[in-house]
Amino acid sequence: MMDKKNIPNQEIVLEIKDLRKSFGDNHVLNGFNMQLHQGENLVIMGKSGSGKSVMIKCLVGLLEADSGSISVMKNDITKLDQEALDILRADIGFLFQGSALYDSMTVRENLEFPLRRHKQKNSLDTDINELVAEALENVGLANTQDLMPSELSGGMKRRIALARTLILKPKIILYDEPTSGLDPITAKEIIMLMQEVQQKYGTSSLIITHDIDCARVIADQMILLIDGIDYAVGTFQELSASKDPKIKAFFK
Ligand SMILES: Nc1ncnc2c1ncn2[C@@H]1O[C@H](COP(=O)(O)OP(=O)(O)O)[C@@H](O)[C@H]1O
Ligand SMILES: [Mg+2]
Repeated sequence: MMDKKNIPNQEIVLEIKDLRKSFGDNHVLNGFNMQLHQGENLVIMGKSGSGKSVMIKCLVGLLEADSGSISVMKNDITKLDQEALDILRADIGFLFQGSALYDSMTVRENLEFPLRRHKQKNSLDTDINELVAEALENVGLANTQDLMPSELSGGMKRRIALARTLILKPKIILYDEPTSGLDPITAKEIIMLMQEVQQKYGTSSLIITHDIDCARVIADQMILLIDGIDYAVGTFQELSASKDPKIKAFFK
C-alpha cells in the first residue's frame, strides 16, 4: 500500500456547503458539506440510494441544487455566467457511473469528443492524434484506437472512459463508482490506474464508491454520506475504528 499523503494543509479546490436537494417528498441531501484539497483522494461512501450521484450531478450542473453553495477553485459556480462556467468545467473530469462510451463511435472518436467540446482549452495546432495516443498509453491501451466499444471488455471500457476523462488534463477528477460491476481483479487494476494518474498529473480526486477495498487503498480522507449529510469525516483508520453503529455498518 502506498503512503497516504498529508493533505489538510493544501489549498481547497472544491467545496460544498449546506447542499440541499429534494425530489418532492424525497429529501435526498439535507445539508451536505465537503472540502477537497489539492492532490487529495477524497472518498465518499454511502449506501445505495443515499444521494451520492445526486450530489455529484449537482456539482457538475446536471442537477440544480435547491440550496447551498458549490465552489470550484474558489469560484462559486452558482454565480458564474455560462462562458466562465464552461472554462471551469474543462478543468473538471467526470467519470460517470458505468463507462458511458458512445457505442457508435470508435475508441479514437470517443476520445476526440471532449477535445472538440472544449476547444478553448486546446490551441488549434495541438496535435489531436498525439493527445489521443498519450491518453491511451496512460491507461495501458495503446493500439485500440480503431476498435468499437462492443469489442472491449468491461475493464477496457472503464479504462477508455478514464482516458477520455484524462485527455483534457483536468485538475479535478470526479469518479462515480469507478469499480462497480467489475470483477475484483479488474477493479484493483482500475484503482491502481487511478493512483498512477493522480501521481503523474497531481490531480485532486473525488471518488464515490461503496467498494470498501477501493476506499482502503485510495482514500486520504473519507466522508460517509448518511441521512443526506456528511455524517462522518476522517481517514479510513479513524472511521473504521468508530463505535457508532451507523459507521460500523460500512466496515463489516
Ligand atoms: N432525477 C431524479 N428525479 C427524481 N428522483 C431522483 C432523481 N435522481 C435521483 N433520484 C432519487 O434520489 C435518491 C438518491 O439517488 P442517487 O444519488 O442516484 O443514489 P446513489 O447514492 O446510489 O448514487 C434516490 O432515492 C433516487 O431515486
Ligand atoms: Mg450512484
